[in-house]
Amino acid sequence: MIQKKMAHIITYGCQMNKYDSDVISRILEESGYELTDDEKCASLVLINTCSIRKHAEDKVLSKLGELSNRKKDTHDLRIIVSGCMAQRLGNKLVHRFPEIDIVVGTGMIAELPNILKGNDNPINLPLLRGTNPLTPFNKGEKVYTGESSCLYPETHINKRGLKSYVSVILGCDNYCSYCIVPYVRGKPRSRKPVEIIREIELLVKTGHKEITLLGQNILAYGRDINESFVRLLRDIHSIDGLMRIRFLTSHPRDITKDLIDVFPELPKVCEHFHLPVQSGSDRVLRLMGRGYTVDHYNRIVEEIRRVYPCPSITTDLIVGFPGETVDDFEDTMKLVKEIGFDTAFCFKYSPREGTPACKFHDQLPEEEKARRLKELLDVQKAISLQINQALIGSVQEVLFDEKNPKDGAPLAEGASLTNECSLLGRTRGDKVVVVSTKTHRIGDIGMVSITEANNWSLKGVFVDE
Ligand code: SAH
Ligand code: SF4
Ligand code: F3S
Repeated sequence: MIQKKMAHIITYGCQMNKYDSDVISRILEESGYELTDDEKCASLVLINTCSIRKHAEDKVLSKLGELSNRKKDTHDLRIIVSGCMAQRLGNKLVHRFPEIDIVVGTGMIAELPNILKGNDNPINLPLLRGTNPLTPFNKGEKVYTGESSCLYPETHINKRGLKSYVSVILGCDNYCSYCIVPYVRGKPRSRKPVEIIREIELLVKTGHKEITLLGQNILAYGRDINESFVRLLRDIHSIDGLMRIRFLTSHPRDITKDLIDVFPELPKVCEHFHLPVQSGSDRVLRLMGRGYTVDHYNRIVEEIRRVYPCPSITTDLIVGFPGETVDDFEDTMKLVKEIGFDTAFCFKYSPREGTPACKFHDQLPEEEKARRLKELLDVQKAISLQINQALIGSVQEVLFDEKNPKDGAPLAEGASLTNECSLLGRTRGDKVVVVSTKTHRIGDIGMVSITEANNWSLKGVFVDE
């Protein structure tokens, strides 16, 4: 029997990268690889990279150093780099790490099956052709950072599980002054509704109950293909067997009262809104080029709270943007306290080469950024705790998708349970809930009465047990 070649994928970055890694997994399988969780067993390691902050890139560079050393020792290793850093750095990556076999940018995932074939078997190379005439595949070529004519290959995410991401729009043209994404992901390109629906139907057939639609600016969905996000939501909502729909990320400028009014008509849409505000200072928001004011943001949150009794509102915040004064930072702290975010992802500003803010004067010292970040994180932690504690006594709908890793009891989907075991699930507001049970199992959606809370999770008991 011929032993299959083993491949291992390492994913950095956002949910869109995780989705791309799912697609890439499928491509590798169709190209004859078996996926392994054990990097050491793999003869192909693919790193799907992120460029959003320097720290994200540093992690990749150190991993590449490690893999290059391994390749020098063993030779039996193919290294592929994909994702945003691949797009941003292209050839520079190969110069720094000549051990890399292939660099495939964000616009070339659809070509990966061909690229793999060519790289595997150089004799076939002249047969390969890029779909974009500007980027033909040349013999010996390692770097593919052009743009394929299709977004994803004709492969379907075919995986088991209960929850999945589905990218519906790729790219962004907002050009917020700090952000690298428009440069590495290109202009917004929406996938066709039929393609999205087909993919979700397939996921539901294989047991998925929850779908999170993804886009760097998801509310821009459809503008480029004369479709609309609301129409897409309605179509997805009518898929039988699908229980929950989430979507990420909504730009506060694009979320309108009319749109918010539509959500409650679609009960599968969970009352969880990730609305990155970035700063609580109008002056900083203007410098960031965000296109809204604090007042607009507050009104959006008010509208959401008008239509839903207890929505989850989460956000992203950047501290230490160039020129952010102590007063600007205090405005952010004030906003955070006033709104009461369920969770906030807080980041120190990281200058990205090629973005306008990188050249702004008044870059803040690292220690000051760190000090502001800590102050913000401490306040947010207390707020998250307070919000979660207020849920004690409430009844929440929870989808259980995991065994509690701290619990040793064996548990597989469909297994009958004799012993009590501990399950992890998520509320509609996306909060983690831990429950001990004898009768429920992974895949169940149950009503849970909340009994305990800390700042990142809840504990409860099934109301019917
Ligand atoms: N499309 C989303 C966010 C994508 S990036 C939006 O528009 O909100 C995710 C988060 O990373 C951003 O919300 C921002 O808070 C953070 N981020 C982006 N660029 C950054 C930078 N240069 N330094 C620090 N944080 C950054
Ligand atoms: Fe980056 Fe702004 Fe686009 Fe978000 S909206 S991806 S922060 S440019
Ligand atoms: Fe990172 Fe690219 Fe996502 S820069 S955050 S992986 S779009």
